[in-house]
Amino acid sequence: MKPILVQNLYKKFDQFFAVNDVSFEVESGEIFGLLGPNGAGKTTTIKILVTLLRPTKGKAFVAGYDVTKNPGMVRKNIGVVFQDTTLELDFTARENLEFHARLYGMSDEERKRRVDEVLSLVELSDDADKLVKNFSGGMKRRLEIARGLLHFPKVLFLDEPTLGLDARTRRKIWKYLKEFKGETTIMLTTHYIEEAERMCERVAIMHKGKIVAMDKPASLVKEFEGEVVVVKADNIDKLKNKLQVNFIERNGKIEAFVDNAEKFIAKLFEIARNEKISIEEISLKKSSLEDVYVRLTGGEV
Ligand SMILES: Nc1ncnc2c1ncn2[C@@H]1O[C@H](COP(=O)(O)OP(=O)(O)OP(=O)(O)O)[C@@H](O)[C@H]1O
Ligand SMILES: [Mg+2]
Repeated sequence: MKPILVQNLYKKFDQFFAVNDVSFEVESGEIFGLLGPNGAGKTTTIKILVTLLRPTKGKAFVAGYDVTKNPGMVRKNIGVVFQDTTLELDFTARENLEFHARLYGMSDEERKRRVDEVLSLVELSDDADKLVKNFSGGMKRRLEIARGLLHFPKVLFLDEPTLGLDARTRRKIWKYLKEFKGETTIMLTTHYIEEAERMCERVAIMHKGKIVAMDKPASLVKEFEGEVVVVKADNIDKLKNKLQVNFIERNGKIEAFVDNAEKFIAKLFEIARNEKISIEEISLKKSSLEDVYVRLTGGEV
């Protein structure tokens, strides 16, 4: 059985479906990214998979076990890294890991070896005996990832593992995940679309509780390829109000996602003429996963 198998999953809060008929599979050893704007339902989906929430309807299997019928076995076989830290701040890094290893019933010898191994993987060997409360945000996140990996989970779940970290630390975290992957299947959520494009074998884009696209990043870009027209104008705000396509604003320019650039540009000049906006620059851009994402989720990055 696939390490993650989700079939027609629903989660209802009051009258509202946070997860609304979601199905997907993740292959063994894959890094699978779940992308989507705030409130899309990513964390809710992950919480169901790690047995913290019960689905309203539908089925989910992790490491071969049904998350509702066999939550204990699911938990044994997974590692979890959530955004909010669950580390013991008054313990050292090593003590945090030792404690976790005991929970998983590792032998003394294995525990010692494995704790050193994961500390070295996330480059915290030199800080192993410092108190976690004195760690930076990036160090804490790295320690948390080390803890997630400690007991050789079959599946590792990470919710926003790189959020709020500087570019260098984010890069490192991806590097650890790449290094560790192999036997382990990794499912994560992220808002860094460009990182997901580089690092995930496959991604699913979630929007309002539904998966609106899922594939290899390169295939998605191909499938949804439209044209991106970059526009600079003297009155961007006025122009924005008149545009009837999805766009984002970047570096003082509008990047509009359109099916037909020629038509759009003609329309653009018409708007400019009517509204007395002067267009200073127009160019075309190759689309990226982020462009696909914006097209499918309506402009939020
Ligand atoms: N316990 C709850 N009770 C009621 N509504 C909830 C609960 N948990 C989540 N929701 C709602 O479900 C929707 C999906 O939330 P979720 O946390 O899964 O989104 P997300 O995709 O992880 O967003 P973000 O990118 O902001 O982390 C949101 O509208 C949220 O308000
Ligand atoms: Mg979330």
